[in-house]
Amino acid sequence: MTDTNKKLWGGRFEKTTDEMINEFQASIGFDKRLYREDIDGSIAHAAMLAKQKIISDDDRDRIIDGLKKIRAEIDEGKFDFSVELEDIHMNIEKALTDRIGDAGARLHTARSRNDQVALDMHLHVKRQTREVQRLIVDLRRALVDCASKHRDVIMPGYTHLQRAQPILFAHHILAYASMLARDFARFDGVYRRADIMPLGAGALAGTTLPIDRQMTARLLDFDRIYDNSLDAVSDRDYVMEFLAAASILMVHLSRLSEEIILWCSREFSFVELDDAHCTGSSMMPQKKNPDVPELVRGKTGRVIGHLMSMLTTVKALPLAYNKDLQEDKEGLFDAIDTIKFSLLVFAQLLDGMKIKVENMRRAVEEDFSNATDLADYLVRRGMPFRETHSIAGRIVHDCIARGIYLKDMTVDEYKKYSPLFDDDVLEAIKPETCVANRNSLGGTSYRQVERQIESHRKQIDEDRKSIGA
Ligand code: ARG
Repeated sequence: MTDTNKKLWGGRFEKTTDEMINEFQASIGFDKRLYREDIDGSIAHAAMLAKQKIISDDDRDRIIDGLKKIRAEIDEGKFDFSVELEDIHMNIEKALTDRIGDAGARLHTARSRNDQVALDMHLHVKRQTREVQRLIVDLRRALVDCASKHRDVIMPGYTHLQRAQPILFAHHILAYASMLARDFARFDGVYRRADIMPLGAGALAGTTLPIDRQMTARLLDFDRIYDNSLDAVSDRDYVMEFLAAASILMVHLSRLSEEIILWCSREFSFVELDDAHCTGSSMMPQKKNPDVPELVRGKTGRVIGHLMSMLTTVKALPLAYNKDLQEDKEGLFDAIDTIKFSLLVFAQLLDGMKIKVENMRRAVEEDFSNATDLADYLVRRGMPFRETHSIAGRIVHDCIARGIYLKDMTVDEYKKYSPLFDDDVLEAIKPETCVANRNSLGGTSYRQVERQIESHRKQIDEDRKSIGA
């Protein structure tokens, strides 16, 4: 072999590739992560080629045996990757050919790296999506466990970050469990749309050889096959969709992170994180910082960035393959690592989080978040809501002037604002009553929260089964 055609595609070249260009265009540094998918794909391809009599059964057996040996070597970290061979596809193919000669040189028949890399990426997205879904289920279970453990704890619910109405802490936490239920379903959609096989598209237009794409798809467990070869090699929708689902998931984790960070502050003091999940300050001896939720919040920007990057890369690409598409990998891989790690860490964080029940209760009692309940009390006695709202508003106004809360007023004082007030008014504005009364479907009442916990648990089981976990 002369210097010029060391490359698998070197035939039409007179010069070797510039060393810096080699470095610039190589993807082996990051796409070696696809070696399992690449080898699975090649094994299926070889089996199909043999069945179609495009290669001999002997060659097939040699190819499959060689590929399995290469896989074992990579597994054990014993394989030498070369930048000169650009990517995972050519690294493996070259190693195979070096070892088994002619048979190896036949593997790439009726195939291009364009449909090969698309295949690897589909397989990878499918596999990783299922792993992400499993972790989503685990975190959702951790949220439901947390809600269930503290099902009687009352806290203020907020709008505009102002105390609004008393709610159950469990209700607040379960809102995030509901978000994760949607995330799971979203990733399910990602999986289903990634479940389509591009192999057989060739470089862009299909092949002159009598391949059997149905067979390859069956061997690789694909639900469907792309029916347009140009689309098959150009499509990165499934990468964008994965990144979109990942971004939305991270936005959910980031919102919860922000709340936990606030709750950890002295100003709220609603929760305390486990020492094992926090760090101190090198200067200020008193500090205990909520690094984990801060980092999850921070990493959200990074995942959203990968989505933007992918959308921007593809937005003006002509059909079919362009090398720009090699840029689909690092962002995707990093997003996968980031969301998996974040989901894992978050479940642990919740597990170790202590709830400061008394502080939450004080935040409810020493404020006016029961004012709506006062207004609703009069509604139940027949007064139009607009009028009750205004009376309750006046009472709040006068309490603020006197430096007291609604619970501190006597029944007689209440009666001065309306004759409809009765002895049971003080009972009606107790935090427990306020919560228990919000029993409309999906409300914060004990019963509704119980119902949510049950339905989450049922759905978690179903979701787990649906992905074979
Ligand atoms: N490393 C390439 C990628 O990740 C593989 C496909 C290369 N195809 C080509 N025609 N140069 O996209």
